Amino acid sequence: MDEGEEPLLQSESGIKYRANNSRFVYVLAFFSTIGGFLFGYDTGVVSGAMILLADVFKLHHVWQELIISVTVGAAAIFAMIGGVINEKFGRKRTILVASFVFTLGSLLLGVSFNKEMLLIGRIIVGIGIGLASMTVPMYIAECSPSNLRGYLVTLNNGAITFGQLAASIIDGLFSSVKPNGWRYMLGLAAIPAIIQFIGFFFLPESPRWLFARNRDDEAIAVLRQIRNANVDDEIHEIKTNIEEDKNVRTSRRFLLIQMLMDSTVRKALIVGCGLQLFQQLSGINTVMYYSATIIKMSGVEDEKKAIWLAAVTAAVNFLFTLVGIYLVEKIGRRLLTISSLVGVTFSLAFLGIGFQLSSIHSATVNNPIPDTHCSMYTSCTKCISAENCGYCYNSTFSTCLPYIKNSTSNLCQSKIGDTFKFNEDFCPTKYSWIALVGMIVYLIFFAPGMGPMPWTINAEIYPLWARSTGNAVATSVNWISNLIISMTFLSLTDAITKYGAFYLYTSFALIAIIFVSLFVPETKGKSLEEIQNVFKKSWTPCGSRRVNE
Ligand code: BGC
Repeated sequence: MDEGEEPLLQSESGIKYRANNSRFVYVLAFFSTIGGFLFGYDTGVVSGAMILLADVFKLHHVWQELIISVTVGAAAIFAMIGGVINEKFGRKRTILVASFVFTLGSLLLGVSFNKEMLLIGRIIVGIGIGLASMTVPMYIAECSPSNLRGYLVTLNNGAITFGQLAASIIDGLFSSVKPNGWRYMLGLAAIPAIIQFIGFFFLPESPRWLFARNRDDEAIAVLRQIRNANVDDEIHEIKTNIEEDKNVRTSRRFLLIQMLMDSTVRKALIVGCGLQLFQQLSGINTVMYYSATIIKMSGVEDEKKAIWLAAVTAAVNFLFTLVGIYLVEKIGRRLLTISSLVGVTFSLAFLGIGFQLSSIHSATVNNPIPDTHCSMYTSCTKCISAENCGYCYNSTFSTCLPYIKNSTSNLCQSKIGDTFKFNEDFCPTKYSWIALVGMIVYLIFFAPGMGPMPWTINAEIYPLWARSTGNAVATSVNWISNLIISMTFLSLTDAITKYGAFYLYTSFALIAIIFVSLFVPETKGKSLEEIQNVFKKSWTPCGSRRVNE
């Protein structure tokens, strides 16, 4: 063995490969993960931009909700369409299209002069997110050597959370730039998008996709370029697998139907979609969305301070995703996901308890002011849960007043004098620290496991013939459940209270532990081709094992 050369490793099926990989695979992963960065940035930045946009364009609630959620809706649809595009035209071209679309959407948003343009811009950005979120992990997985795959694919989640952190910092910086700060917040995303677009012109197509298209010479050249080692064994393994695929995929039936009829792929699809569903059902985006309010609840009254502390929570999310990147090839996907879920379950319950104690010990309204629709509420919790009412108080006096943006504080001041405080979204209690601690602990557990693993595992569990469609379906499940959870949160809290909602998420996380323990196999250290055998052998949802073990 030459000095500096990595040792030969042996895969389970006896194939030898070198742990060494060209540095090129890192360059490839870096440019790919810009897609993850844009996913995180564009979903995160809008909350801060909305505060300014609502004033500039006089946006009513319906328009605000539309501008926020239309991106997630477009992502759900285009994750599905992305499956067809990257199967037909290749992973590289799909990522190129995504970065072009991101650039276009960001520029349009930055120069918008009416709300319709904003809406179109947000749809375009959502198309980019849909395409990138399903293609990037798959592309990285197909280009990576087995021993680095988990690590490189999980990097994409590091980029997502870094994008969310960058968004909260940019929001903080530009929130006081009035009236045009929002143009920078939304438009700046064009810069990384352009960098990715240019970079991808020089990056290769996925070798596995090329082999599947019988473009063997190009595929071999790419493998040599990204491996810097003898690739004969890997070529043999991929080609054998593609031959096997051809036997499986004999009919010209619609791909998804064929996938559902094949028991091995069906299991992979259940695992992939289940993980994505449970990621969202465990309430991550509610926690993210609620972070500024939870911080305010814990006694930080100053709006600006609360915005910056929300950036600190985004930093916690990012830093602990790095822990996941570090652990994924050490302890494996399963243990990482299960331990993450156990922590998530406890912290969700803790959050629920925090909100419940705050509600039980909610301050009373001791001086209702008649002639307003808010005067009938007798406690602070009831007051702030009612439509357009807020809690106005000082150390001796409290009342419930109608909430009118920018002018209620004046009303509150005129009623109780200079020492007033006014809140429309939380009540002052001594238990609010529980929610703050619960949120931080939640992120510490969610970020290394349940955040990245659904993406990482989906990128590796499908056979080549079903990989695009499998990822398309599972990614859409992620975006659709994201949309449902975020759109229902407010009505859910109306129906079963805030703590009720967190207890519900706790029970979803508990079910997720059972689901992962029963159905998710370990894929660490195995080649994409070997993972297929794991699924042939693994436990089936109906409790039987396949005969051809
Ligand atoms: C999820 C996003 C979430 C993010 C939080 C991602 O894995 O898919 O919905 O906002 O993690 O860091």
